[in-house]
Amino acid sequence: MDELNIGTKISGDYVSKVACILAKRDSGKTYTAGVIEEQMFINRLPFVVIDPMNAHWGIRSKFPITIFGGPKADIDITSNDGAPIAKLIVSQNLSGIIDVSDWSFEDMQLFVTEFGDKLYELNTTPRHLIVEEADIFAPQRPDSNSKVSLRALDTIVRRGRQRGLGVTLITQRPAVLNKNVLTQSDVFFFMNVVAEQDIKVVGELLNLSGLDRDTKKEHIAKIMKYKQGECMLFSPSWLRRIESFKVSKRQAHHAGATVGMGKKEEVKLVPVIIDHIVKALNTEGGTESDIGITMKHPTMKQYGTGIVMLTALMFMLGAMI
Ligand SMILES: Nc1ncnc2c1ncn2[C@@H]1O[C@H](COP(=O)(O)OP(=O)(O)OP(=O)(O)O)[C@@H](O)[C@H]1O
Ligand SMILES: [Mg+2]
Repeated sequence: MDELNIGTKISGDYVSKVACILAKRDSGKTYTAGVIEEQMFINRLPFVVIDPMNAHWGIRSKFPITIFGGPKADIDITSNDGAPIAKLIVSQNLSGIIDVSDWSFEDMQLFVTEFGDKLYELNTTPRHLIVEEADIFAPQRPDSNSKVSLRALDTIVRRGRQRGLGVTLITQRPAVLNKNVLTQSDVFFFMNVVAEQDIKVVGELLNLSGLDRDTKKEHIAKIMKYKQGECMLFSPSWLRRIESFKVSKRQAHHAGATVGMGKKEEVKLVPVIIDHIVKALNTEGGTESDIGITMKHPTMKQYGTGIVMLTALMFMLGAMI
C-alpha cells in the first residue's frame, strides 16, 4: 500500500481524497504542498497543481514534472487551453505544474473552470489536483467569474472521488474560502492561524469531531503558536486522528521561499521528455497552433531524448557482450 510520509504518515488513498491546508501567510503552506507533491511522485500517484503564485516550479530541480505556462514553461499555454490541457493530462496520465501566475484573476478562473469541467468529465483513474490560493477560485462570496470556477471545483470536491479525483485546497484565509467546499474535506492541515475570523472557522471545523471544549481550546492555542513548518493534521472521519507534527524537509527547491537580501541562487531544472506530449497535442488535443504550444527549453528536450538513446545504446551493447 502506498504511503505518503510528510512528517507524519498518510495513506496513499490521499490521491482521491479532499484536503485543505489552512494557515496565515508565510507559515509553510506551499512548502507543505511541495512535500506532498514529492511524496506523490515517489509513490507514482499522478497530480496536477494550479499555481497562481509561480511557487511550485521548484519541484523540477529534482523531479521530472512537466511545467505548463509561466516563466519556467516547457509548454506555453493560454487561458483558453483549460479543456485541451485536461484532456492531455488524462490521456497521457501526466503529472504537471500549471503556472497561471502571468494572468488576471478572470483568466485564471476561466482556465480553472474549463480545466476542471474537462478533468471531471474524462478522469477515471486516481489523480490529485492541488489548488494554490484556492479562495481565488472558490470564494465564500463569488462574483460572476468566480461563480463558475466555484461550480467546477465544487463538482470535483463533491463527486470527484467516484472518478478517482482528489483535491488539496490551499488558502491563507479560511474565512474567505467557500464553506460548502471547505466542509467536504477528509483531512485538514492547520498551520499557524492567528486572525480572529480564521480562528473561528478552525474552531467550527474542530467541532466536527465532537472534541470537548477544553481539548479544542488546547488545540487552538497550539495552532496560534505554531512556527514555520509546524502543522496539525485533523481528520475526524477518514484517518480518525488529530496530531501535531513537523513537516518534513523538501528534497527539491522551494520556489516560494521568502526572498532574502542575499544573492539569488541559480536553480537547475532536471530534463523532461516532452516529445510524446507534443505528439499527443498534435494528434488528440488539436494542432500545435490551436494550443499555442512553444518549446521553452529545446536543449532540455534534446537532452531528454539523448538519455533515452544512450540508455538504448547501453542496453544493446550489454546484449552483445
Ligand atoms: N517544513 C519546513 N521546513 C523548513 N522550512 C520551512 C518549512 N515550511 C516552511 N518553511 C519556510 O518558511 C517560509 C514560508 O513558507 P511558505 O512559502 O510555504 O509559506 P506560505 O504559507 O505558503 O506563505 P504564503 O501564504 O505567503 O504563500 C519559506 O521560506 C520556507 O522555506
Ligand atoms: Mg504560499
